[in-house]
Amino acid sequence: MARHLITSALPYINGIKHLGNMVGSMLPADVYARYLRDRGHEVLYICATDEHGTPAELAAKEAGLPVDIFCAQAHDAQKAIYDGFELSFDHFGRSSSAQNRDITQRFARTLNENGFIEERAVRQVYSLDDERFLPDRYIIGTCPHCGYDKARGDQCENCTRVLDPTDLIEPRSAISGSSRLEVRETKHLFLLQSKLAGEVEAWIDASSGDWPNLASSIARKWLTEGLQDRSITRDLEWGVPVPADTWPELAAEGKVFYVWFDAPIEYIGSTKEWSDAAAEGESRDWRSWWYAADGGEAPVRYTQFMAKDNVPFHTVMFPATQLGTREPWKKVDYVKAFNWLNYYGGKFSTSQRRGIFTDAALEILPADYWRYFLMANAPESDDTSFTWELFTSSVNKDLADTLGNFVNRVLSFSRKRFGDAVPEGGTPGAAEAKLGEQIATLLGEYEGHMETLQFRKAAQALRALWSAGNSYLEEKAPWMEIKTSPEGAALTLRTAMNLIHLYAVISEPFIPASARAMRAAFALPGDDAPWVDAEQARALTTVPAGTAFTVPPVLFAKITDDDLAAYTERFGGDPDA
Ligand code: 2FM
Ligand code: ZN
Repeated sequence: MARHLITSALPYINGIKHLGNMVGSMLPADVYARYLRDRGHEVLYICATDEHGTPAELAAKEAGLPVDIFCAQAHDAQKAIYDGFELSFDHFGRSSSAQNRDITQRFARTLNENGFIEERAVRQVYSLDDERFLPDRYIIGTCPHCGYDKARGDQCENCTRVLDPTDLIEPRSAISGSSRLEVRETKHLFLLQSKLAGEVEAWIDASSGDWPNLASSIARKWLTEGLQDRSITRDLEWGVPVPADTWPELAAEGKVFYVWFDAPIEYIGSTKEWSDAAAEGESRDWRSWWYAADGGEAPVRYTQFMAKDNVPFHTVMFPATQLGTREPWKKVDYVKAFNWLNYYGGKFSTSQRRGIFTDAALEILPADYWRYFLMANAPESDDTSFTWELFTSSVNKDLADTLGNFVNRVLSFSRKRFGDAVPEGGTPGAAEAKLGEQIATLLGEYEGHMETLQFRKAAQALRALWSAGNSYLEEKAPWMEIKTSPEGAALTLRTAMNLIHLYAVISEPFIPASARAMRAAFALPGDDAPWVDAEQARALTTVPAGTAFTVPPVLFAKITDDDLAAYTERFGGDPDA
């Protein structure tokens, strides 16, 4: 038994996330957390909303709300959706928490004391009418490359070219629209990453051996390009304030930390939020997850989940920040990175609302349908595409036919022929022995893929386990057997019911609600075993004859042609069809 710390990239506060965001971080982290808990490990799964930065300010402005109110509401809205997806966070915090403010400020002071922060003068655009410096994204104008008239100071959304605000033709403020802008000198804090480059490289050399190629190759690419010193403050109203005890002048000017400085620190902040929320008498020690009492690294295995664009921040910048404190903060052991999930080959887009958003997904179908499909098609080794056709076929074949139909068929037929208890009689023979071997082998494969965080392969093994039940049932054909050997049919059905119970246990990480429904079908007192060992898988006798059972309502409804037509109509289908 080990202690596992799991974090998934913090979703930005500025809007409801789409399925691509879900499959690239929170959902796989949840599946992994559930699996490890089921295997008896101590798990702490931490996430939070990423609430600072320009996108939050702009979204609040668009919603016509003060930014703190906007963030509080948006946090609750996201949290409700994640509850709907049954994401089993131990804590879902907020990067705007007092805990994160304190820890972020402490990080900055310590880095400063260690000589890794420097105050530097920079030239920046100032808006006379807004009476403030404008971050690059707050300056809009005409793109010099494509003529798009709403290009932002950091990038043109139309031609995707990276820009400098001074490149823009007829620049104006995104806040007031005023074009009375001038370039002024101001001071910002810089994190001297160049001084930490050697240490970060040594740390990556020592740690990244077993990371997926996607994560280690991106980390290496960033190292090769050279670690630049990076400005870690911004002129925004919303953010972690620069501490006045250390930088009085910058604090008086209202500078706050750059969102990518305080966001990863919120993994720690959110752990402290979790600790602070302990009920009376309950002990939660946030420190023990982040460093050891004797001053060494905490004896914890730390796994992070994220989409590929987040990899540099997690493998290079955050470790640099941690290393520069000269304190023994727990650093990531395993980085599980994901490629993109596309929508019919194009991008999911929050700004253009293209694709399927998590709130809409739950409106039309239960979470388990999405959880299974997304994990079975997770963009692990390559980008993958969501299409309604693929989704429909996966739900109808794997969930409805292979699993749901098996459960229903076995339980309904047994009830019809033998009543409301698991039937007695028959002696297990060659078919049961073969099945038991097959199940034990497949279970071993499934566990192996889960241990190595290969979710597509794990989903395949799970599907193979479900299929094995179908093959057994077809082979034994209890609906024929009953005519010649009621005892034989009883054995077949009892064995199949044991498979249903086994499926309930081992499918829990992927489809928790359906797993509960399958398990609840059997009146087995004290049935709380979180997992099945190889011996039990081979024997298939956990549910004894005489156990009362009920037939659950249909587990998975098939998606019909009419449904499919309605979904593609509502969300947009294949653009080339
Ligand atoms: O890309 C994103 O969605 C960011 N909000 C992820 C932040 S992860 C972390 F470090 F906080
Ligand atoms: Zn352009």
